[in-house]
Amino acid sequence: MSCHVFTGISRLITPTTAFQNAAMVVEQGKVVWLGRAEDCVHSGTTIDLGNRAVCPALVDCHTHLVYGGDRFGEYQMRAVGASYEEIMAAGGGIHSTVRATVSSSEEQLLESAVARAQTLIRLGTGTVEIKSGYGLEIEPELKMLRVIRALQDRVALTILPTLLAHVIPKGWERVEYLDMFCRQLMPEVKRQGLAQAVDVFCDAGAFTVAETRQILTCAQNLGFKIKVHAEQLTWTGASALVAELKGLSADHLEQTGPEDWAVMQAAGTVGTLLPGAAYILKKPFPPARKMWDAGLKLAIATDLNPGSSPMPSLFLALQMAMIQGGLSAEEAFLAGTVHAADALGLDDAGRLEVGSRADFLVVDHHDPYWPLYYWGAPHLHAVYLAGQLQE
Ligand code: NIG
Ligand code: FE
Repeated sequence: MSCHVFTGISRLITPTTAFQNAAMVVEQGKVVWLGRAEDCVHSGTTIDLGNRAVCPALVDCHTHLVYGGDRFGEYQMRAVGASYEEIMAAGGGIHSTVRATVSSSEEQLLESAVARAQTLIRLGTGTVEIKSGYGLEIEPELKMLRVIRALQDRVALTILPTLLAHVIPKGWERVEYLDMFCRQLMPEVKRQGLAQAVDVFCDAGAFTVAETRQILTCAQNLGFKIKVHAEQLTWTGASALVAELKGLSADHLEQTGPEDWAVMQAAGTVGTLLPGAAYILKKPFPPARKMWDAGLKLAIATDLNPGSSPMPSLFLALQMAMIQGGLSAEEAFLAGTVHAADALGLDDAGRLEVGSRADFLVVDHHDPYWPLYYWGAPHLHAVYLAGQLQE
């Protein structure tokens, strides 16, 4: 593969450093040089970006991108007043997506996931975490994880698969389900290398803190990284639990306060906010400004799923975190790149530096933060993943 020299860059953000009138050199899918254009001594095929800004591709550290069916009907019911909790208690919500996912073939799930993944790429995402959790029982959970693995061969995104303990399936005793999850499902997922982390939805209608502790402890013993869906609908103490266990992240946090943030901050657990779910379910929007000022490392993700967050755009989530959450453009951008990579245990995603994968966005403007300003419009001139232009 030849050397490509990108010029005509008005401003490049790494994102922790910025260069005006920059150039970037890419070889074999990796960044081999970046800096001020006048300092560039590399030669190769030159690609003039026409005085546009360059930034790293985004990292979406929390999605449920693989699923069957949709929940447009419920969405319309919620718009006029029904609550997420009522719909779930009546057998809809997550359970309705479980039925649609269990009855879909692997091919159907894969084709719909490929289409969604391509949308994510067009919207600027380069690395994505994808959870299972709509299969619940052993075979359908393994099926979802196989689809996530097959997706990796179909799109240029970097994909991190996570096994999610979502809810107890209808007809199961809680104790039996936990036993199956810990003794059969997790060991089998580990044996087949189908996930790198385990997540638990700890909330009313899902798992208790005691059950979450049992699953996460087992997961750690098997060598999985751990994270939780914490304090979304009700406060349970799950964020303190994942901090105690030195987990990667506690996600949602709509119902948390300063004590929770202090415990997470001390443990180095990332707080992942999901503005789409908070906004769409009309929950309190997490006070991102206060959390950031309290020293909590914040990531922002889409939570893309058919129920609480039918929203593939991470830039939209970052726009919301700025205006509803009070973050600056620079902070919001860090939350969707470097901090999101931390929430996945990655130290090389969401940044442009010598040696990193050349996942970058060419913004259709001279200011790299423009996509955080101009809502509801396409912002990107081009997306490159591993140095390859994505069509
Ligand atoms: O992150 N809160 C639980 N899980 C997902 C929602 C999944 C769904 O509604 O299908 C979430 O919001
Ligand atoms: Fe989620």
